[in-house]
Amino acid sequence: MIASSLLVLFLPLLLFPLINATTFTLINNCSHTIWPAAIPGGGRELTPGSNWSLARAAKASNGRFWARTNCSFDASGKGSCLTGGCGGILNCTADGSPPATLVEYSLYQYGNNDFYDISLVDGFNVPVQIRPNTGDCITLWCAADVAGSCPAELKVAGGCDGACEVFKTNEYCCNSGSCRPTKYSRFFKNLCPQAYSYPEDDATSTFTCNSGGDYTVTFCP
Ligand SMILES: *[C@@H]1O[C@H](CO)[C@@H](O)[C@H](O)[C@H]1NC(C)=O
Ligand SMILES: *[C@@H]1O[C@H](CO)[C@@H](O)[C@H](O)[C@H]1NC(C)=O
Ligand SMILES: *[C@@H]1O[C@H](CO)[C@@H](O)[C@H](O)[C@H]1NC(C)=O
Ligand SMILES: *[C@@H]1O[C@H](CO)[C@@H](O)[C@H](O)[C@H]1NC(C)=O
Repeated sequence: MIASSLLVLFLPLLLFPLINATTFTLINNCSHTIWPAAIPGGGRELTPGSNWSLARAAKASNGRFWARTNCSFDASGKGSCLTGGCGGILNCTADGSPPATLVEYSLYQYGNNDFYDISLVDGFNVPVQIRPNTGDCITLWCAADVAGSCPAELKVAGGCDGACEVFKTNEYCCNSGSCRPTKYSRFFKNLCPQAYSYPEDDATSTFTCNSGGDYTVTFCP
C-alpha cells in the first residue's frame, strides 16, 4: 500500500524528464579522430564513423557542442588539444578555447520552440551540420573550407580565429552598444551564410524548430 502510493506520487516525477528528453547524436564523419565536447555533457574521443548520443532531460535547457582536434590525453583524461581544448581535460566542464565552430541550442523556449544555430563568432576549426530529425525544420550547414581560405591575420594552426579573439576591440567583440558587420564577419558569412559571423548577427543566424524532436550533429558533413 505504502509502496504503491509512493509510486503514484513519484512516477510522474520519474517520467517527466524522460518524456521531455531531447537527444543529440554527434557523429564524426571526418576522416580523422576528433574529441567532441558538450557543455553540459562532457567530452570524449570519437574515431571516424563513430557517434555519441546525449540526452538533455530538463526543459528550457541550453548548451553547446564543438569539436576538439589533434588532442592527446593520458589514461586519467588529462592532456591538450590543438583547437577547442577545455582546460586540459577530456571530459569538459567548461567552454573550449577558440578557434572552435560552435553548435548552440536552447530547448523549450517561448512558444514551445527550440532555438539552434551554428556560430563562427569564436572562429572555425571543423565543418559541422545540425539536422533536426523531425518536422519541417531547417538543417544548418557550415561545410566550407573556412580554415583553408582564412585571412592571414586570423589564421592559426588548425583553424581560423574570430576577429574579436585577435583584435579584442569593441568593433569586433560588441561588448557594449551595437555593432555592425566587418570585413572579417563578411568573410565568415560568405562561406557559411547560415552561421553567426559576429555577435549581433541574429537575423540570419538563429533558427527555430518545434520542441520535442531530436537532433543529429555531424562533424565534416
Ligand atoms: C563526464 O561528465 C559528465 C557530466 O558533465 C558525466 O555525466 C559523465 O559521467 C562523465 N564521464 C566520465 C567518463 O567521467
Ligand atoms: C551510432 O553508433 C552505433 C554503434 O556503433 C550504431 O549502431 C548506430 O547506428 C550509430 N548511429 C548513427 C546515427 O550513426
Ligand atoms: C592534426 O590532425 C590532422 C588529422 O589527423 C593532421 O592531418 C594534422 O597534420 C595535425 N596537425 C598538427 C599540427 O598536428
Ligand atoms: C560524410 O562525408 C562524406 C565525404 O567525405 C560525404 O560524402 C557524406 O555525405 C558525409 N555524410 C554525412 C552524413 O554527412
